[in-house]
Amino acid sequence: MSKDLRRAADILRAGGLVAFPTETVYGLGADAANEKAVARLYAVKRRPADHPVIIHFAGTQAAFDWAREVPDAARKLAQKFWPGPLTLILKRSRQARDFVTGAQDSVGLRVPSHPVAQELLRLFDGAIAAPSANRFGLVSPTTAAHVRDDLGKDVDLVLEGGASDVGIESTIVDLSGATPVLLRPGHISKAEVEALIGAVGEKNATSPRHSGGLERHYAPRTPARLVPTYALDGEIAKGKHKVAVLAFSRPDERVDYWLRMPRDPHAYAQRLYAALRELDSAGCERILVEAPPDAPEWDAVRDRLRRACEAA
Ligand code: TXA
Ligand code: MG
Repeated sequence: MSKDLRRAADILRAGGLVAFPTETVYGLGADAANEKAVARLYAVKRRPADHPVIIHFAGTQAAFDWAREVPDAARKLAQKFWPGPLTLILKRSRQARDFVTGAQDSVGLRVPSHPVAQELLRLFDGAIAAPSANRFGLVSPTTAAHVRDDLGKDVDLVLEGGASDVGIESTIVDLSGATPVLLRPGHISKAEVEALIGAVGEKNATSPRHSGGLERHYAPRTPARLVPTYALDGEIAKGKHKVAVLAFSRPDERVDYWLRMPRDPHAYAQRLYAALRELDSAGCERILVEAPPDAPEWDAVRDRLRRACEAA
């Protein structure tokens, strides 16, 4: 592995692209200070140039060098949750150039905890720009095999790191404005953030652009629908389409493909993207997803499912 890691760092230094594991999802990395490398990253992702990317660092100090103001709240959150599945949006310093921030005045910073990501960042000794290693709008990868399926030869090297622990993208807290805003829910909950820094607002239409904010995102190719538990049986009974089902309950014989999910929100998140990929390749015409409970601990999962599914 350490030979692969050294090669990965060399590829990054030469302006290449390396996919690497993080505890949330796999990232597609490029040298965040190299404009050409980042341009290739956007091209491979098929991501619009005005969408900012998250910049990854080995440690807090290096991350905060990319911000020109570090509020108290940012220090508290970093101390508690870094390295880990949290991204902070701060006012950018001169290090964060237009080509990684989508020309906004802020920058997204993250210190991942996955040992392979940590080792890569230390060897590279710089900042790595990394969106999730999937094509724009599709389901994020949580294994190296997912990355290879999605990006194939468009990436110079894929580092192996097992299945991602958290399974969904990092919690994003925007501290660049007058008051803190939760831009994307994740494994670290709003309540955990608020316990440290006080009330946090939810994003609204005037919040800064971010791709997770587009309504349909993280979506499988097969049309998917969220169905409340009480309506699931009725939907299946219609029998109009060949359906694949993601549910908490036991398989139903009338259904072509059934995946049973855990009742614990973290365990569910961990398996969610692999499950959506599996259902997507099951050769069905529709995916039905049993809606999770309407409770705060399911916020992050509900957010990803809403984006993966069409409006009912
Ligand atoms: O867990 C994660 O965050 C993963 C792993 C690889 O670290 N990365 C990830 O990156 O999910 P991406 O690019 O797929 O999503 C990052 C989100 C996007 O919605 C992006 O627009 C937003 O963060 N973002 C980055 N910088 C921002 C900024 N300055 N202001 C507002 N949103 C920002
Ligand atoms: Mg993404």
